[in-house]
Amino acid sequence: MPSFLQASAAILLCAATLVDAASLPNPRNSERAAILAGYNIVNLRIEGINTIYEAPIFSGPRNVTTPSGGTHLCDGTNDGANPTPGNTCTDALDAASKLARFPFDGTYDAEFQDFFITSISTTTETATEFWGLLLNYQFTPVGGCQQEVQPGDHVLWAFNAFNAVYFLKAEPEVVAVLPGKSAVVTVTDGMSGVPVAGAEFAGQLSNAEGQVTITGTKPGVNVYKATRSDSIRSNAVVVTVI
Ligand SMILES: *[C@@H]1O[C@H](CO)[C@@H](O)[C@H](O)[C@H]1NC(C)=O
Repeated sequence: MPSFLQASAAILLCAATLVDAASLPNPRNSERAAILAGYNIVNLRIEGINTIYEAPIFSGPRNVTTPSGGTHLCDGTNDGANPTPGNTCTDALDAASKLARFPFDGTYDAEFQDFFITSISTTTETATEFWGLLLNYQFTPVGGCQQEVQPGDHVLWAFNAFNAVYFLKAEPEVVAVLPGKSAVVTVTDGMSGVPVAGAEFAGQLSNAEGQVTITGTKPGVNVYKATRSDSIRSNAVVVTVI
């Protein structure tokens, strides 16, 4: 599936960047360290009309440019939100847009010193549907250039987030099953942790406990996401029938 292939490619490119940084000769390491101060890797997911990005991304403080907002520093010190520069949610978005080659746009609010994201890839806000930002499945209290992120954080840019009932989360993310055997995937609301019934996953609907039972048929690898019409689709789950 395209999203999985795209994610794999992004992981490989990301790994290549890290290897490159690590293999530099010693004299340049301090220089490189200074340039990469505040950089880290987060798990980024961008859910628009389709999944736009879902993979780890290596990013850090930078000047972000959008067609409608211009170029502005984006490093967590925006509007005095943090005392020191660091990687932010919008830095991750910007890095992913360059890596995976999709555009994004946003206006710039001089008062908050932050971008208001209006469009990512081909998913653009409407009068009633906006892009929302969640860090570890909670709405961020500040904008994307003010919200710093820690290594391994889950950053979710979700379209129509403010009208979503649930932010679906499917676990485990990797499932291996033998032909004729079965495995259970559980769908919850990432924000509250409650099980979500009636979410479609691999052609089935989750039960009251949020569970879907996958039965292995023919060997192969498939990638599924849980969906519900009133909710933000889940992370990808890789199901391998061994
Ligand atoms: C942002 O741009 C300014 C002006 O060109 C430059 O001095 C600064 O180093 C840049 N900051 C980052 C984090 O790239």
